[in-house]
Amino acid sequence: MSFKQLYMNRHAVHKFGGKEGPPISKEMENELLEAARWAPTAGNMQPVRYVVIRDQETKKQLQELAAEAKQISGYWEPRFRDGGVWGEVNDLIQPELLIAVLTIPTEVPPNTQNYAVDMMGAAITMEHMWLAATEMDLQVGCYCHWLTEKVKVLLNVPLAWNLAGIMAFGYSIHVPKMSRKPLDGIVFYEKVPGEY
Ligand SMILES: Cc1cc2nc3c(=O)[nH]c(=O)nc-3n(C[C@H](O)[C@H](O)[C@H](O)COP(=O)(O)O)c2cc1C
Repeated sequence: MSFKQLYMNRHAVHKFGGKEGPPISKEMENELLEAARWAPTAGNMQPVRYVVIRDQETKKQLQELAAEAKQISGYWEPRFRDGGVWGEVNDLIQPELLIAVLTIPTEVPPNTQNYAVDMMGAAITMEHMWLAATEMDLQVGCYCHWLTEKVKVLLNVPLAWNLAGIMAFGYSIHVPKMSRKPLDGIVFYEKVPGEY
């Protein structure tokens, strides 16, 4: 698969099932984690950690937390309510493998702009896993919508660490094909136009 084919075939699924595939072996799991390990991080400080989850009970509890996060966000944002475009709770039970992506913010030196460089590194590791999974013909869900402290308690994560998100890997026929804004709406040349 060319790089272009790979990134055009990468999609986010929110629902698994309807498609069979080989079980996600330890080798496949390691391939995903290796892809993550080789992602770049600020200063090569590598502040990203991973929790591999296959336990059904943990998945069930995560699913309940995902539902709670949507319900609470729905208080302010109608799209998260039942029947809203983002109202459906993501499937965390059917996908065989979940990987929680965490960062240790103290492992990157503070910088002048207080960028969340630890989280930027985590995001790149997530995309590396996402592309590696696409090459393996796995479907992927990427979930960042959590009451993070509750997830940290469930996974025994130190309070000071960040939860970047939870990736779900499995098989699915429910693959939305999302579009993108055209380049001429998002790219400026030399300067941002306009007057202040
Ligand atoms: C930083 C980030 C956070 C995301 N959080 C969620 C999430 O909480 N729940 C969800 O269903 N999808 C989530 N997604 C998936 C996006 O909705 C999806 O990537 C986007 O709609 C574009 O679709 P595509 O990835 O299939 O091109 C997230 C993606 C990113 C990159």
